[in-house]
Amino acid sequence: MIQKINHIGIAVKSLDEQIPFYRDVLGLTLTGIEEVAEQNVRVAMFEVGEVHIELLEPLSENSPIAKFMEKKGEGMHHIAYQTDDIREELSGFREKGIRLIDSEPRAGAHETQIAFLHPKSSGRVLTEICQTAGGSQ
Ligand code: CO
Repeated sequence: MIQKINHIGIAVKSLDEQIPFYRDVLGLTLTGIEEVAEQNVRVAMFEVGEVHIELLEPLSENSPIAKFMEKKGEGMHHIAYQTDDIREELSGFREKGIRLIDSEPRAGAHETQIAFLHPKSSGRVLTEICQTAGGSQ
């Protein structure tokens, strides 16, 4: 079951340039910076209540984030909904004819399992489903 919005992903060219807006202007707490090798990105995470804002900086030209910014520039990248059972969600999506980018869950930041839906099946909003390490927390 989808439980809440876990995070909103924002594509940035440089964490160093964008962190001050979120930390010093909005006053959000920076909870960590981590590299996600699978996606070739460095991620800065901020807390806003129960939701996280993730700034995504590409580490190479072939990072999906670099490719996104080539087409659309910096800005909103994806919305991530948290579920207590990512495999069940994915099989439900398949039954409903939803196109998936990831047919199997893969490793995300912060020990989560994630999967992306194809934007053509989600109103052009890149949509991620994620399950946290603790399952239903
Ligand atoms: Co995400």
